[in-house]
Amino acid sequence: MKVDDLRADEKDIYFKCLEDWSEETNEAGPHKENWYNKMRPKGLRVKMAHDDKGIVGGMIQYLPIEHSIVDGEGLYFVYCIWVHGHKQGRGDFQKRGMGKALLKAAEEDARALGAKGMAAWGLSLPFFMPASWFKKQGYLKAEKDGMMVLLWKPFSKDARPPKYVKPKKSPSAVPGKVTVTSFNDGWCTSMNIVHERAKRASGELGDKVAFRTYDTTDRSTFLEWGISTALFIDDKEVQTGPPPSYEDIKKLIAKRVKKLGKEKG
Ligand SMILES: CC(C)(COP(=O)(O)OP(=O)(O)OC[C@H]1O[C@@H](n2cnc3c(N)ncnc32)[C@H](O)[C@@H]1OP(=O)(O)O)[C@@H](O)C(=O)NCCC(=O)NCCS
Repeated sequence: MKVDDLRADEKDIYFKCLEDWSEETNEAGPHKENWYNKMRPKGLRVKMAHDDKGIVGGMIQYLPIEHSIVDGEGLYFVYCIWVHGHKQGRGDFQKRGMGKALLKAAEEDARALGAKGMAAWGLSLPFFMPASWFKKQGYLKAEKDGMMVLLWKPFSKDARPPKYVKPKKSPSAVPGKVTVTSFNDGWCTSMNIVHERAKRASGELGDKVAFRTYDTTDRSTFLEWGISTALFIDDKEVQTGPPPSYEDIKKLIAKRVKKLGKEKG
């Protein structure tokens, strides 16, 4: 197995999070590519893991924390590590050491770039990006917010732990309309799918629905709200992991449209 920097000829599969077989991924739009192009000059690093036949089985993306969705200094923040685990397409590469090799390569790279440590997020659940997996790789808990755990591995004594950026406000509704608000920065294919589905459903439900979007690749927009990726219907956040289907999102918005009609009498 080998871990290398993302090559130009691998960009398409990277933008699809290695799921080039998935119909759903085609719904994600150009957001990931846009995020990559905007963050590359800010220091985004992407590495791909290849098996002995040269097939890509995993990827990791990390960015100087100052440009990321958490607060910190001198660290790199791992947005995601993903070892393809589906039977479809390239097949299941998990539990063969690829994850460990990707994280090690990213840490070595960050050290060589002068970083004081590495930060990452994980879930206190045994799936998705498990915090327990990072702990096994020597990461410490910095903060916890519900199921979300912010982890880090200091490389030097003067490193300080990362902190969450807390939500500062919720979107308000456009008077007389159901307001669908999508915060999106583009790094996550699942959230890009949610964004596109919410936009399409809002459009199909007509002029009773206002669709608003905040591009949180713009750090001042992100810091103003304290929200990087989220979907709101009026002031209520929709649970989005794993992505709800197009039909479910449309149903949720349509329910609010019906309620609005009743309120108006
Ligand atoms: C978590 C993940 C990165 C691990 O990669 P992997 O290649 O499967 O794991 P490795 O083979 O490198 O495992 C290294 C060690 O972690 C352990 N491990 C593997 N999966 C684990 C899990 N889910 N929880 C805890 N430990 C785990 C292994 O047993 C191994 O232990 P060892 O060192 O004692 O032998 C991978 O399973 C994955 O991509 N999961 C999904 C993550 C995801 O959803 N990413 C997208 C988020 S936006």
